[in-house]
Order: sequence, then C-alpha cells, then structure tokens
Amino acid sequence: MSPVTVPQFAVISGAQVQRALAGREKQVVELVEATYRWHDAGESVNPPSYFLRFPERPAARIIALPASLGGDLRVDGLKWISSFPDNVQIGLPRASAVLILNDPGTGYPFACLESSIISATRTAASATLAADHLTRGRQRPVRVGFVGTGVIARYVHTFLACTGWSFNEIGIHDPSADSTAGFRRYLDRAGTAGRITVHDSAGGVLLASDLVVFATVAARPHVHDPSMFDHGPIVLHLSLRDLAPEILLDAVNVVDDVEHCLKAETSPHLVEQLTGNRDFLAGTLADVIDGRITVPADRPVVFSPFGLGVLDLAVGKYVYDQVACAEDLHVVADFFHDLHRYG
Ligand SMILES: NC(=O)c1ccc[n+]([C@@H]2O[C@H](COP(=O)([O-])OP(=O)(O)OC[C@H]3O[C@@H](n4cnc5c(N)ncnc54)[C@H](O)[C@@H]3O)[C@@H](O)[C@H]2O)c1
Repeated sequence: MSPVTVPQFAVISGAQVQRALAGREKQVVELVEATYRWHDAGESVNPPSYFLRFPERPAARIIALPASLGGDLRVDGLKWISSFPDNVQIGLPRASAVLILNDPGTGYPFACLESSIISATRTAASATLAADHLTRGRQRPVRVGFVGTGVIARYVHTFLACTGWSFNEIGIHDPSADSTAGFRRYLDRAGTAGRITVHDSAGGVLLASDLVVFATVAARPHVHDPSMFDHGPIVLHLSLRDLAPEILLDAVNVVDDVEHCLKAETSPHLVEQLTGNRDFLAGTLADVIDGRITVPADRPVVFSPFGLGVLDLAVGKYVYDQVACAEDLHVVADFFHDLHRYG
C-alpha cells in the first residue's frame, strides 16, 4: 500500500523563530498560562528530564525533555538542550538547543526548530506569568533586581517590559564584569527609564528590590541569610540552586511541577532532603492561577520553576504554525524515504 501522503519534515532556523515570536510577548504568556492549565488538568505527559553528564566535563550537561501535550494543541516532541557554561568565554551562549515536533497521529517528526530562543522565551513568559499572579494581592513592585545577568535575565526583562511592567529601580549583580556591562548596554538599548544600580553582592540586590530574578549558573546555594528577605520580596528563582534551605523554609514556596522540581539538587530538593517532607511547598503556579492557594502579601514568595517540556512544545508549535501560515517553511525534500513496506 502507498502512503496516503508522504510526511513532510521542515527545519526552522533561529532567525525564523525570532521573527515568529517578536512582538508577541502577551500572546506567548497567555499560551504558557493555557499550557500550565492543560498540564494541571492531566492533558499532558511530561516524564522526568534526562540529564546527560560527562565525568571529564563536570560543568557541562545536555538535557532531554520529552513531552506530549493535549489541549487545543495536540503535539508530541523532544527538546534537546546543552548547557556548556564555558562557551561564554569564547563568545558563544551557554545554552544551545533543538526541538523536534512529532505528529500525534503517526508519530512522524515533522519539524526541527532552533530552540535556544524558544527555551529562553518560554522561561521568560513563565516568569512573567508568575510575577503577575504572585503580586495580585499586593502593590505591584517597581523595584526589580537581577542576580545573574546573562541571556535569561535579558529575556525576562524584555518580557516584563513588553507586558506592561515598568520599574523605577533596576538592581543588578553578576561576578562577571562582561555580563554586567553587557546587560547594562541591553537596558540602555531597550530605553529603560528606571535608575540602574550595580551591586557587589546578591544581598545588595535583594535588599533593594521587591521583585528579584535569579538567573545565575550557581551549582549550589550562595544566599544564606533569611533576614535579606524580611521585606517579603517576590523571588523568581529560575536558576533553582541559589537559595539555601533556610531561605525556602522561611518563605512561601511555589513550583511549576512538584515531582520535577524536587530533583537534581535544586534548592527545593535540598529542603526535602533536609526535612524529609514536602510541607514547605505551598503549591504550584497552576494552584495560584486557579485560586486554590492565596499568596500572603507580607511574606517572601519564592517561585522555583523546573521548566517543563510541555512549554517548549507549546511555544514550538506556535512558531511552526506562524511560519507555516506565512508559507515560509523550509521543507527538506525526500527527508522520509523508502516508505513502501516491501520496497
Ligand atoms: N527554570 C527554567 O525553566 C530555566 C530555563 C532556562 C534557563 N534556566 C537557568 O537560568 C540560568 C541562567 O541561564 P543563562 O542562559 O542566562 O546563562 P548565562 O551563562 O547567559 O548567564 C548566567 C550568568 O550568571 C552569572 N553568575 C554565575 N554565578 C553567579 C552568582 N553566584 N551570582 C550572580 N551571578 C552569577 C554568570 O557570570 C553569567 O553572567 C541557568 O542556570 C539556567 O539553567 C532555567
């Protein structure tokens, strides 16, 4: 039997991804919110990420995030993302990635997308969504701080700025003078109105901010003093390993997915190991969005998102649809070949 249609396979470049997402920050935040709801409603399969590590290169890793998303999108796939922190010294970004999308009807892969932009975008959209929902019961922060000022910090700032946030004060800290200078240049280019202060410690940023973004590459906790959180900031703990257990034990803790987050020596995982229980967790972002938990206005709140493959699938499928709609898909001719069962 001949196949009804020969499956197509397209390759989508970073330039196409960037064009498809530019100026669509609000839509992407809404898409990420819908995806968290589908995930919460059980309309997803999102097994644990698989970490490929190298004994002779302990700082490097490549992570596989397989996932399947139902809801309105219906797509399966895999993100394959490398983290090589030393790349920065040779002028390359730390993270590089591809995303494969699979057709849920046949299983056939139908696209391979450059995915460092998709990954940074879904991370920033998730952080922006969290900042919005976690601050609903309190005054909206106008003092923001960034601890770690690389690619992710830039994307988070762009998403906040493009979805209506404005800040009087922007505090930054990064041990790398290059990163600090680069982030300052980015803020200037973005036309940021707020006053920018470079701090010589994470503590300085914390004390001067009501919304704090951690986007470092720290492998273990380097912030230990709970008194720096006495003013009750909202902390977007994207890099997951910066805060000592005593900080989390004093805070309201929100995660994206409990099983995912309590793994791989994240700060929440360290708390679980220390206390032997999960009582320190208030719930998930979906619980906050759907009003099942209320976040107190006078306590520090720490959002630790492990980063779910379903978010990459949702944003990747959105990009695919935009590129297909613009009739700009680069289909690889004859990618699937020898489709007749007996030749
Ligand atoms: N949770 C998620 O879903 C998610 C998604 C993507 C990336 N991330 C994480 O975000 C982090 C940042 O990624 P990136 O692409 O921006 O990396 P990057 O290499 O571009 O930037 C990281 C910056 O952190 C700085 N840094 C290192 N240690 C620090 C410390 N103790 N204090 C302050 N700054 C410090 C480095 O000098 C560097 O400038 C990584 O840990 C990455 O794993 C999380």
